[in-house]
Amino acid sequence: METPSLWVMQQIFVTLILLIQSSVAVNRDNFKTCQQSGFCKRHRAMTPGQSSYEVLPETVNVQSTSVNLQLLNTVTNVKLTLELSGLERSTARIKINEVEPIKQRYEIPVGDVLVEEPKRQGLKKLEQTSQSLTLGIEKNKIVISFKPFRIDFYTEDEPVVSINAQGLLKFEHYRTKQEAQPEENVEEAKEGEEPKVGDENAEEKPAEEEQKKEEEEPDLWEETFKSFTDSKPHGPSSVGLDVSFPGFENVYGIPEHADDFALKTTKDTDPYRLFNLDVFEYELYNPMALYGAVPVMMAHNEKNTVGIFWHNAAETWIDIKSNVADKNFFSKVADFFKQDSDIPQTDTHWFSESGVIDVFIMLGPKPKDVFKQYAVLTGTTPVPPLFSIAYHQCRWNYNDQDDVKNVDANMDKFDIPFDVIWLDIEHTDGKRYFTWDGNKFSHSVDMINNVASKGRKMVTIVDPHLKKDDNYKVYADAKSKDLLVKNKDGNEYDGWCWPGSSAWPDFTDPEVRKWWESKFLLSEYEGSTNDLHTWNDMNEPSVFNGPEISFHRDVKHHNGWENRDVHNIYGHLVQQATADGLILRSDHKERPFVLTRSFFAGSQRNGAVWTGDNIGEWSHLKVSNPMLLSLNLVGITFAGADVGGFFKNPDPELLTRWWQAGAFQPFFRSHAHIDTKRREPYLLPDNNMKIVRNAIRARYTFLPYWYTVFYNTYKNGGPVMQPLWAEYPEDKLTFKMDDQFLIGPSLLVKPITEQGGTGTNVYFPGANDVWYDILTAEKYLGGKSVYVNAPLEKIPVFQRGGSIIPRKMRVRRSSGLMHDDPITLFVCLDRQGKASGDIYADDYHTFQYQKGKYLHRQFSFSNNKLINSNADKNGSFETKEWIERILILGVLKKPNAVAIKIGNQQQQLAFGYDPNTSLLAIKKPGSKLQEDFVITLL
Ligand code: GLC
Repeated sequence: METPSLWVMQQIFVTLILLIQSSVAVNRDNFKTCQQSGFCKRHRAMTPGQSSYEVLPETVNVQSTSVNLQLLNTVTNVKLTLELSGLERSTARIKINEVEPIKQRYEIPVGDVLVEEPKRQGLKKLEQTSQSLTLGIEKNKIVISFKPFRIDFYTEDEPVVSINAQGLLKFEHYRTKQEAQPEENVEEAKEGEEPKVGDENAEEKPAEEEQKKEEEEPDLWEETFKSFTDSKPHGPSSVGLDVSFPGFENVYGIPEHADDFALKTTKDTDPYRLFNLDVFEYELYNPMALYGAVPVMMAHNEKNTVGIFWHNAAETWIDIKSNVADKNFFSKVADFFKQDSDIPQTDTHWFSESGVIDVFIMLGPKPKDVFKQYAVLTGTTPVPPLFSIAYHQCRWNYNDQDDVKNVDANMDKFDIPFDVIWLDIEHTDGKRYFTWDGNKFSHSVDMINNVASKGRKMVTIVDPHLKKDDNYKVYADAKSKDLLVKNKDGNEYDGWCWPGSSAWPDFTDPEVRKWWESKFLLSEYEGSTNDLHTWNDMNEPSVFNGPEISFHRDVKHHNGWENRDVHNIYGHLVQQATADGLILRSDHKERPFVLTRSFFAGSQRNGAVWTGDNIGEWSHLKVSNPMLLSLNLVGITFAGADVGGFFKNPDPELLTRWWQAGAFQPFFRSHAHIDTKRREPYLLPDNNMKIVRNAIRARYTFLPYWYTVFYNTYKNGGPVMQPLWAEYPEDKLTFKMDDQFLIGPSLLVKPITEQGGTGTNVYFPGANDVWYDILTAEKYLGGKSVYVNAPLEKIPVFQRGGSIIPRKMRVRRSSGLMHDDPITLFVCLDRQGKASGDIYADDYHTFQYQKGKYLHRQFSFSNNKLINSNADKNGSFETKEWIERILILGVLKKPNAVAIKIGNQQQQLAFGYDPNTSLLAIKKPGSKLQEDFVITLL
């Protein structure tokens, strides 16, 4: 039992956290800079061009799909082993480890991040000399140079990726701690004889000196940050390597940072940091770490796209240098006069606190190839249940079951569709997850059933910290089964979070994950139903009284690994176990929905991610676009930002613009801090309410398209919310663009993110393309920027000429009520009078689609004929959905007649034509979605 005074202290502490949250901007002092991190300092201090590593030629062993060799550090004499393997789809993997480590190093178990052991592919030995080895992999060439060691990757004879070209490979081998020598011994050593020629010691001297120098570095065996001392029982163990991208000016990825999409040089800042942390009121446009980490970077230019995946779960920093961006103004001017045509190059430097070097090189050559190459390694987002890509209504907190009922009723009253209402931490019995506050939610099952009767769902929050209370059965069970994370001394780790003193299940242990899964069974989670889904928060994990608001690094996990080894995958494994728990609950029938704040590479497999505690300010609305683009690029497609901003009370204009932007971002949820004013959309002034309602309703009309885009990325990888260059890889003007984006291949979105904005310059990509305003059907020619008016009621969204987008125009209270509704096809013709598109449909909620119960239809329009055909013979599904209307934009003259042919049956269809907009509206084709048809304009 807690003593009352301890309890009071904890409550004061939690209240303080709340106060801090509601009043101050990020407290930078809580988080380490590179200067405050021993290994970051050591790697950053290295001088390029002085590699001490060389390949020992006699160790080179070429096999059919791999090469093994040893690297010698000529200064310390320490040897490393390197394996380079060829993987399917033009991907290579390089693993570097110690030859004889005194202690095993952590490697992420296959299945946790990689979906399976990657499939190998043949490496062809092209040439071997005493200086180098040249290998072929598909159309690419790999050259390993021996002295100094480096590896260069070529695509069609052009260098695209170089490893250790800057010579920054550094591998801090495990060592035993040298006790400090007594003074006399040091003196004696100094007075020793001069070494004679042939004396072994003479040769070892540089190595010894280097070793000694290394040992003298501070922070090797203990490191202090603020009042926290990291005991570092195994000493230094960091690993680092440089990766250069010759020919590339732009690199992207490595979320999560509140920064531009095209990454910036770190010449004058800290490196980009990947270390999952709870950072409230985070600052914009800097490389500080946030809640999640995906160590994946892509480089793109007009000809090639390549990617790097740094498969390491420890804290990682990445420096970026660019020969273009880092030039100062005067040298740029000098170049101009010299007519200098330097080839652009981006040099990156990656270093992690522990683990091995395990890096995947994805050789493209096109954006979609890299997306697929990465998807093969870490998987894709399974098709989300339809409700989860609709609109979510959340706040901290909906107070009780009556509040839920009222919000639900008001949304209906104001005709605003929504699919999910969320409950934050206050719904629990004293922040004991899997329980309910009995006074406020005495009839939780009735409450959920009431919401579900309109096709809606609910979500409750389930954080990974467990209140230390022996009467709380989840904690007591975990404790008795010994499932909790330990401190360095082997006792249960204790930290503070929302419930006060807390303990954390060790999600790195597969057995603990199994245990956690069982907690979602309806028999275990009392008061829940199958319509209740889950939100995982604070899973970095957040520890209010821990170093950098997280676990101590010497905290012990499964198999004795320290948190420093596994830190960045903890949150990912929480979400994985939660999603598996929801799947278990329905006996593997229903698709789960789980939102997580913390994530890692591969988290896309488990559900959605949001960008945490943003602020209700214009700048935060604006940054949501690049942040979500970065997440999408590295496979985290189902991503969103709190609509409205978590902190503060934004005015109606900002709220309106935010709802409009959210309606065209993948995960669409409004959320707000407990201290903010209520801001459900129906509380807005009437005009704003109507505009927001239209934005939300627009989302619902586009759901068939969103669902199809999600399906296609499930199959092929790649982003849902795309940078323009993913579809227009050769268009240089798009390379730094992050204030406009594409949803799937065919919708161009430019949200208004400026206060008072009444219009914006939109860049329409594709010199041969045309674009159509989705509301007015106004036509814009591609290849240029055009100023588009956008008064408050307008969201600048355009459909690409050449595309066919399926929509459902009868918006109902929830997407659940729209499953069987008819489809309207929006056909926008390109300059050749052609268009194509597709639609994916299934039962919208079970896993049956993975067993072939789905429809994937292809639509194509050319030569005045629209054909609906099967895109995938492996799928079949009897849907009630049918095609209600077809709108074709860009029809230059009115047809005499329109006829549909289904099988041998032909009949004429009613239509209307507007010459001003060149719009042809075909009414009631009436065909079932799964029926082949040909419609001809006669
Ligand atoms: C964290 C979350 C926020 C949530 C709050 C209370 O700050 O990021 O979304 O509302 O905790 O659970």
